Amino acid sequence: MTQTATDQALFEAAEAIRARAYAPYSNFAVGAAILAEDGKIYAGCNIENAAYPQGNCAEASAISAMIAGGARRITRIYVTGPGTMPVTPCGGCRQRIREFADLDVTVISHGVDGQPLVSTLEQLLPHSFGPEFLSK
Ligand code: THU
Repeated sequence: MTQTATDQALFEAAEAIRARAYAPYSNFAVGAAILAEDGKIYAGCNIENAAYPQGNCAEASAISAMIAGGARRITRIYVTGPGTMPVTPCGGCRQRIREFADLDVTVISHGVDGQPLVSTLEQLLPHSFGPEFLSK
């Protein structure tokens, strides 16, 4: 992948917040950085919990930051984690992203010791259900 200036900024934001991840149970720190429609970057990390299912994924945290910051649409999202395998959003987070992104939005998944994987949201979540199903 040719790394654009935008992708470099998203990568750096994801890595900066990944350093703050609270992941004492998995030791798998994840960062996510969203480029939103307002041109700003919103980032989040995973936050685990002793009651395991109560943990938050990095993508969910980044979406929370975006909404709290006043933006509503994801135009690009970058996810970073350890290892060489691309850290792709989990199934639940693919659906969370779907709420706020068009199907052609680029999702970059990066295990930071390997190469980034560039996908569209539609590739990660085909035949998906979204907000338009509920609109009149
Ligand atoms: N995790 C994320 O935050 N995002 C992903 O895309 C994959 C998994 C987190 C959840 C959990 O805290 C840890 O990584 C191990 O699954």
